[in-house]
Amino acid sequence: MQENEGISEMTTTRTPLIAGNWKMNGTVAESVALTRAVDDGAPGGCELLICPPAVLIPPVAAALKGGNVAVGGQDCHFAGSGAHTGDIAAVMLAEAGCGYVILGHSERRADHGETDELVRSKTEAAHAAGLIAIVCVGETLAERDGGETLARIGSQLEGSLPAAITAANTVIAYEPVWAIGTGRTASAADVAEVHTHIRGDIERRFGADLAGGIRILYGGSMKPSNAAELLAIDGVDGGLIGGASLKAEDFLAIAASCP
Ligand code: PGA
Repeated sequence: MQENEGISEMTTTRTPLIAGNWKMNGTVAESVALTRAVDDGAPGGCELLICPPAVLIPPVAAALKGGNVAVGGQDCHFAGSGAHTGDIAAVMLAEAGCGYVILGHSERRADHGETDELVRSKTEAAHAAGLIAIVCVGETLAERDGGETLARIGSQLEGSLPAAITAANTVIAYEPVWAIGTGRTASAADVAEVHTHIRGDIERRFGADLAGGIRILYGGSMKPSNAAELLAIDGVDGGLIGGASLKAEDFLAIAASCP
């Protein structure tokens, strides 16, 4: 936070968010059992979120007893309805009980060719439906090795964030692509550098208040053994967790590591 002294004093107002991205995993029975275990064990001090595959959202939402854990989607379409076979509108997610949606995850960008412009329009659709958008950015290994990390993330933020975001309707997730599902995590120094850069970018574009209030998550092989170190980094406001969110014990241990 060195380069953003003006906003550092607002960090205490950001409630950490521990978000589970289940990706394409889970049966109805497994999902309900996992949801109940997470709900029962939810520690205080952070917000918990589960993002199941779309068809599992209704049973997951129904399994939650209330209040402790939020539900989110993993993607949405930019249109409100219409001829888009296989897609899901943000308003449908909201109606199914979601409060959040992950957008521009690197697997969506890679598997479905999602561009920054598309992510921006999906983010606008999410906001129009009353959802909090978790907008993902992150560099590939080639970009990191080429010294392009900060420039790449800057351009993704520039292109993916609509002009009218607020600290309440948007969360940013920094996920180095090379750390996702690989067991490799970025070093604490690298994470701190990127998070400081992201918050500085946000401050330049949206002002100090928004930059001080918006949550910026780290994602990429976060697990119980490294969560405390990652979550303690100044400017890291929680985690976006893939593999380790599929085991209640691991997900809850990460949540319990929030400072
Ligand atoms: P991982 O996935 O925790 O399995 O690395 C993180 C993500 O893709 O959000």
